[in-house]
Amino acid sequence: MNVSGSIDLEKYPIHQLDSTAGFELVDRFRSELETNGALIMAGFLRQSVVEECVAQLSPIIEKESFVHNREHNIYFDDHLDNVAVDASALARMHTTSLTVCGDQIASSMLWDLYQWQPMIDFIAAIVGKDRLYPMDDPLAGLNIKSFRDGDVTNWHFDRSEFTITLLLQQPISGGVFQIRQNLRSDGNPNYSGVEKLLEGKDQKVRSVHLEPGTLTVFKGKHSAHRVSPVSGSRKRIVAVFSYFDSPGVRFSDEDRIQFYGRSQVIN
Ligand SMILES: [Fe+2]
Repeated sequence: MNVSGSIDLEKYPIHQLDSTAGFELVDRFRSELETNGALIMAGFLRQSVVEECVAQLSPIIEKESFVHNREHNIYFDDHLDNVAVDASALARMHTTSLTVCGDQIASSMLWDLYQWQPMIDFIAAIVGKDRLYPMDDPLAGLNIKSFRDGDVTNWHFDRSEFTITLLLQQPISGGVFQIRQNLRSDGNPNYSGVEKLLEGKDQKVRSVHLEPGTLTVFKGKHSAHRVSPVSGSRKRIVAVFSYFDSPGVRFSDEDRIQFYGRSQVIN
């Protein structure tokens, strides 16, 4: 599998950003991301390639995943000022999924795609950065997250400005990406709005149906979001790509242990 043959470049000419089609693409996607807080690119990866990726990943997911379990509040922050620890806006929730790290799939199309310069330049253009860089961390830069029956990523705000995901497999049911756009801002944590969301009373929650092969660019710092609980025997599988403004970004050993259960690189 080579990278450029894996992407639908007719629909998404990301290798020709200097062409008229490339300019139009970036223009359209930038405003879509600005308006919706999310950019959904269905059919980014060809269907046959999606299936090959899942076939390659499945045995690794089954045998070599790290089980990530976490208790957290929506802010991913246990030290908020001026709020009682038992406030319902700070309700604690459970998040569980399986993680495979980049170093476990170093010989894969997904690893090559993560490092592919046209891909990096495309993402930078969409999110309005002059340049972006892949992480200098074979564990953290590319992750495969899998959700078994009952697994969930509960409501949270992201710490990073944007997140890139590529959906590879949908479960039989559940595993729906849900967004409440602009629920907080830099100056306003909006505890009352968060309470309403967690009580299931926020009418502005949007459920986004994604097909395997969809690339998503999402701005989650101010928009609360979750992946609803998966049910059934087929896992939800998604690749997560992390890019930064500066080169050389890597996890500390403590971060690696917390997120992956190990600090050493495999191979
Ligand atoms: Fe997130």
